[in-house]
Parts: sequence; C-alpha cells; structure tokens
Amino acid sequence: MAVKQTAGRESLGQFAPEFARLNDDVLFGEVWSREEALGLRDRSLVTVVALMAQGLVDESFRYHLTTAKHNGITRGEIAEILTHAAFYAGWPKAWAAFRMAKDVWADGEGGDGKARHQREMVFPIGAPNDAYAQYFVGQSYLAPLSTSQVGVYNVTFEPGCRNNWHIHHAKSGGGQVLLCLAGRGWYQEEGKAARELRPGDVVNIPAGVKHWPGSNSELLARQFAQGAQEAGHTVEMISLAGRDIRFCKGCLACQTTGRCVIRDDADTIVQEKMLHADVLAFATPIYYYGMSGQMKTLLDRANPLYSADYAFRQVWLLACAAEEGDEVWQRAAAGLGGWIECFPKARLAGVIFGGGVTGPGEVQSGAAMRQALDAGRSL
Ligand SMILES: Cc1cc2nc3c(=O)[nH]c(=O)nc-3n(C[C@H](O)[C@H](O)[C@H](O)COP(=O)(O)O)c2cc1C
Repeated sequence: MAVKQTAGRESLGQFAPEFARLNDDVLFGEVWSREEALGLRDRSLVTVVALMAQGLVDESFRYHLTTAKHNGITRGEIAEILTHAAFYAGWPKAWAAFRMAKDVWADGEGGDGKARHQREMVFPIGAPNDAYAQYFVGQSYLAPLSTSQVGVYNVTFEPGCRNNWHIHHAKSGGGQVLLCLAGRGWYQEEGKAARELRPGDVVNIPAGVKHWPGSNSELLARQFAQGAQEAGHTVEMISLAGRDIRFCKGCLACQTTGRCVIRDDADTIVQEKMLHADVLAFATPIYYYGMSGQMKTLLDRANPLYSADYAFRQVWLLACAAEEGDEVWQRAAAGLGGWIECFPKARLAGVIFGGGVTGPGEVQSGAAMRQALDAGRSL
C-alpha cells in the first residue's frame, strides 16, 4: 500500500505550499497510489530508472532506491535493472547509481540466509543443536548465553524448523520466557491460535502449558521416520513449511538438462534428496479432498526425475483430515498415484490415514500413529 506522503509539506510547506501540495497530494497521493493500474514495485522501477537516466543521484534518489527495496525489488534485480539501463542512459550514470544502490542493499550482501540472520541479531547463532535434535523437526542452532543464575539460550530456527510439542513441568515457578530477537516465528499453545513473533516480542509460558504440538501430518511423518530408523534405515525428514517452492513453468528444459531452471528449495530437495532416496513418504493434510498445494507443487517440480535414474521404489502416503472415511483420502492417493505411474520402477506401497482430526496434535490419540510406526518398521 502506498504510504501517505508528507515530505513536500515538511520541506517546502512554508516556502512553496503549492509545490508541496502537488508533491504530496497529486504525485504521491494520486499517481503513486493508483496501484490497481500499476503496482508499487513497477512504479519504483520506472522512477529509479528515470532518475538514474538523468544522472540524479542525490538524496531523493536514495529515497527512491530505499522505497524500491521496500516495494520488493531485490538486490539481484536492482543490479540487473541498473546494468540494463546503463546501455540506454549512460555508463557513468550507472556507476554513480550503483554506488548508492550498493549502500541501500548492503544488508543483503554476501553470505547465505544464516549469515544475513546473524547480521540482524546481537547474540551468536551458535552451533547446530545436535544434542536436542530429537525435540525439533528441521535444523536448529543453540548458543548458551548464560548458564549460571538463570539459564539463557539463544535458539535459532531455520525456515520450516519447529519444536515438537512439549510441557515445562515444575512444582513451583518454572515455565519459560521466549524473547524474539530477530527474524520471524510462530508460537502456539494447545487449543489456541498460533501467534506470530517479531523481534521485540515476549512470550511468557507458564509451567504446565502444552505448546507446539506440531501438525497432524507431521506427527505421522515423524512416526513413520522413527519406525524406519528402528529398522536400521537412514531417514531424512523435510518439511515444506516455509520453503521457497515455486510453480513448475512447464518449460520442459529439465528433460534435456536433468535439472530445473528454477533455483529454489524444490530444486535442492529434488536433486539432493528425492533422486537418491530408496523410499519416499509424503505426509499431507487433506485439503478439499485432495493433497495440499505444497505437496502437489513439489510433485510437479520433481519433473527432472522423470528422465533420471531415480532410486525410489516405494512411495507412501500419510494423510490427515477432519473427516473420516476412505473417500476423504482416495483422491489424494489417486493424485499421488498419477505421479507414480510416470515412474515405472516405483509403486504406491501404502496409505496411512488419520481421519477425524482437526486441531494440531489430535492425531496422536488415533490408530494412525501406530500404523505409521509399523509402516516405517516394515521397510
Ligand atoms: C484449506 C483446507 C482444506 C481442508 N479440506 C478438508 C477436506 O476436504 N476434508 C477434510 O476432511 N478436512 C479438510 N481440512 C482439514 C484438515 O485436513 C485437517 O485439519 C488436518 O488434520 C490438518 O492436518 P495438519 O495438522 O497436518 O495441518 C482442510 C483444512 C484446510 C486448512
């Protein structure tokens, strides 16, 4: 949404009130705000190029670069935009613009997401949280900040990582205080809506309160994984929550190159995990009597495997839904079955269904948990 502009009146309201009015009310109030005709991101792009083409790299250019960043133009995109414009506007103007753009996008420079996260946070991220890995799904990191008087630990969650459900037991006092230092996360108590956490947020968790039970489909996946581990297999759980998984473009380049042209988490999951796994188990909530959109998108993006020497022979479906009955999960199984048909060396080995569950963790009281464990053990 366009921000109400007051810069004109603040700077020139006394000296040139009409110019200030035109700036705040017409240029920003009417032109910039016609978002239905052209989005803010595109308006920023046009403005930055127009200013750069004139060689205007003063504070107003910095303002528009900052606004462009705010409107979603990434570091990679601004580099491409200025490089492209350089051929039409002039090389030295691009040099001047780059100096300022580099400054505005400095926080996105170098390193991976972990390095960027560290720059936002005063405390260390610490080491991989291997000692407590069994209490998490996904990768977390642990840095002890204080181990005397009161224990204080900095726990960092990678995107998609979450705690298993747990309770802090205590005869008196006890509990836990969560301080959100950087990034964005979620906290949920049993029976309550999940709460978004932003830097500066404080959560007091009294002793005895059950929190983060985990989703139903994830609980089934964890059971299956545990069974498979007990049977001596190496298991890797990958949560699609919070992952960057974009839609297949249908370009079919992967059928020639063996790899998707889109470099995102789906590409990594397909190339580094799915291609080499002997067994694939997909866990999903039932959405509208089918599989979830995340799962379907990943299946589409697994198209490079079609012409590859994939290792999987068994494919399992673990599903949860609010309703009970075979007709609730059968369309999800049929959808997955359609995908498996394209991989003649593989078969749908089984379906585990937890029906009649809605709230997080409810599946734990049903037979599906045991079935998922046994299915994992049977591998
Ligand atoms: C968008 C949406 C669509 C859903 N569609 C169905 C459905 O068609 N049939 C059903 O029984 N439950 C449906 N549900 C309920 C979920 O399948 C159920 O709450 C499930 O336990 C959630 O699993 P999770 O905890 O792994 O997210 C739907 C839920 C959502 C959010």
